[in-house]
Amino acid sequence: MNKSILLKNRPTGKPSLLDFEITKIDEPTPKNGEILLATKYISVDPYLRGRMRDEESYIPPFKLNKPLESMVVAEVIKSNHDNFKEGDFVSGMLEWKLLQTNKGENLNKIDTNLAKPSAYLGILGLTGLTAYLALKHIGKPKNNETLVVSGAAGAVGSIAGQIGKIKGCRVIGIAGTDNKINHIKEKFGYDEGINYKTTDNMQEAIAKNCPDGVDVYFDNVGGETLDAVMMNINRFARIINCGAISIYNEKEIPTGPRLEGILIKKSALMQGFLVRNHVEEFESAIKELAGWLKDGKLKYDETIIKGFEETPQAFLDLFEGKNTGKMVVEV
Ligand SMILES: NC(=O)c1ccc[n+]([C@@H]2O[C@H](COP(=O)([O-])OP(=O)(O)OC[C@H]3O[C@@H](n4cnc5c(N)ncnc54)[C@H](OP(=O)(O)O)[C@@H]3O)[C@@H](O)[C@H]2O)c1
Repeated sequence: MNKSILLKNRPTGKPSLLDFEITKIDEPTPKNGEILLATKYISVDPYLRGRMRDEESYIPPFKLNKPLESMVVAEVIKSNHDNFKEGDFVSGMLEWKLLQTNKGENLNKIDTNLAKPSAYLGILGLTGLTAYLALKHIGKPKNNETLVVSGAAGAVGSIAGQIGKIKGCRVIGIAGTDNKINHIKEKFGYDEGINYKTTDNMQEAIAKNCPDGVDVYFDNVGGETLDAVMMNINRFARIINCGAISIYNEKEIPTGPRLEGILIKKSALMQGFLVRNHVEEFESAIKELAGWLKDGKLKYDETIIKGFEETPQAFLDLFEGKNTGKMVVEV
């Protein structure tokens, strides 16, 4: 039996389960030159919210009543393709279906001896690469500098903080529960943490936790947290606009303080980052991330949700902070 998850409605504001539909579909038969893939793990990611809007972006919007897609780890269960054999594991941008055929294009074979399959959706996948490449190209953290990371207990943030420690920074994390704050200090080596949900004055809290100011800000959330960090940046600070989850569900984009004066006064750099701009570096970046992992310099968390039908709920739970580390659905 085969199933697919479709986008039923374009959400306005916060998405809900009513925006998705799970349907039964036929089991496909691979033609010559094709493979049959069985989905094993599905990555749910905050950026998928943007693709639910009918707006042109760096990636096309989802179509209504068509399957959603994201990064998926799948097993080849039938092959009519010279480069793939039964039992191979691959990762790639694939549809939310239990079974699907593929021409073998834009798929990466993954080494399940090096790391477990789900790791290729997180630490050795796009979120690990995002942390690594955004710091390499924009953050450029140096020894003894102060790095602040928001979404600090999430998939990108937990890796960004640890890379900051590897580079010799003092690292301060911002996250949404006290448990997450304790966890990022104990497991990932963050020096301090701030719970943005229970802190009244974020600007003051950042000043207190960063007595030498902020040299690098790895921003995963945008909005008021970004505003508060900007009031604490040092000369020549680098601000990575990686994500803005705090405003993804807003019906109208909120306005904040004007930042141009601060950027000029501090000669600071604020730059948007897209991991897909650095595809040619993925291989070398994964090598270094895998090396750090093997040496015990990097650790990672996964929140694994079981069951294909749970994929929409797992996606919605990202906006409630229910995950620590990479949110993945195990099929
Ligand atoms: N630019 C790129 O190429 C690229 C690539 C990958 C990801 N990203 C972006 O990076 C960010 C992190 O992605 P991820 O995959 O690692 O997700 P994630 O951090 O693992 O999960 C999302 C987390 O965001 C936090 N959150 C939810 N609503 C929030 C709000 N209103 N304000 C502040 N925090 C909120 C929650 O943690 P708390 O409990 O702490 O609230 C939640 O656990 C996202 O903004 C994503 O779009 C960008």
